[in-house]
Amino acid sequence: MTVTLFHLSDIHFGLEDTRALAWVEECIEAEKPTAVLITGDLTMRARHREFAAACRWISALGPPVTVEVGNHDMPYFNLVERFTDPYRRFRAIEALLEKQLDLPGLAIVPLKTVTRAQWRFPWSNGWITDKALAETLAAIDAVPAGRRVIVTAHHPLTERDPHGKRLTINGTAAMAELAKRKVLAILSGHVHDAFDLTAETPNGPLRMIGAGTLSRRIRSSPPSYNCLTVSDDGIQVCVRNLQDISTPEMQIDKVPENALPPRQPGDPVAPVATVPPTDPPVH
Ligand SMILES: [Fe+2]
Ligand SMILES: [Fe+2]
Repeated sequence: MTVTLFHLSDIHFGLEDTRALAWVEECIEAEKPTAVLITGDLTMRARHREFAAACRWISALGPPVTVEVGNHDMPYFNLVERFTDPYRRFRAIEALLEKQLDLPGLAIVPLKTVTRAQWRFPWSNGWITDKALAETLAAIDAVPAGRRVIVTAHHPLTERDPHGKRLTINGTAAMAELAKRKVLAILSGHVHDAFDLTAETPNGPLRMIGAGTLSRRIRSSPPSYNCLTVSDDGIQVCVRNLQDISTPEMQIDKVPENALPPRQPGDPVAPVATVPPTDPPVH
């Protein structure tokens, strides 16, 4: 059986690309995908009005929707709330969402990759706690035999960049566990560019599929989303965008640290953020 999934990410309500979002809405209305999977960073600064806008948008969609918590979805200005109840604002939309999806022959299982604080800076990078990984693995192990599994997360699981810098803590171990369980793919966002890569683990390969952004905070590609066609042959990925750029051209070939634009020759040493000057640059 073929299942069509729209994989959206990093809409960043508050800095969303309204034209791109209207187009995605039309595509969902016309094509009626089996589900819409949003891999985090629903808002820009976790403001109440940004979550309210996200609620309105998600409520108007027909298919079931899942959303992972992104690093932008925890209070940014209110540190007391960030420490005491970081997911309170996010929970306000959970009534509209599916936590875990059971589709024909396919289960969608979430993996949490954010933490309220870390011993390192920036806090925006991923961290898969032992508890979060255990919950995901238990959910996968409970999926009835014969049903395939796709895992959704905000951060790509890549643990080290080519220079050895640590990206997602515990990502390597998580990838090995997911590969052992033969998951079809891990879907993610966070870096604002699309990719479709295969990681080698001690337990075999793991496919990693990243979606771009639907915000105005772009990295190296225009706003986009992934249309995933899941069949007995596996997953086919199409990176859809308003500029008719082909999927291979839209996809980057390695996972970067964050969503900041890649440096060009002659650029100043400090990278330039694409957010308006009223917002401090963040990852
Ligand atoms: Fe983002
Ligand atoms: Fe993010």
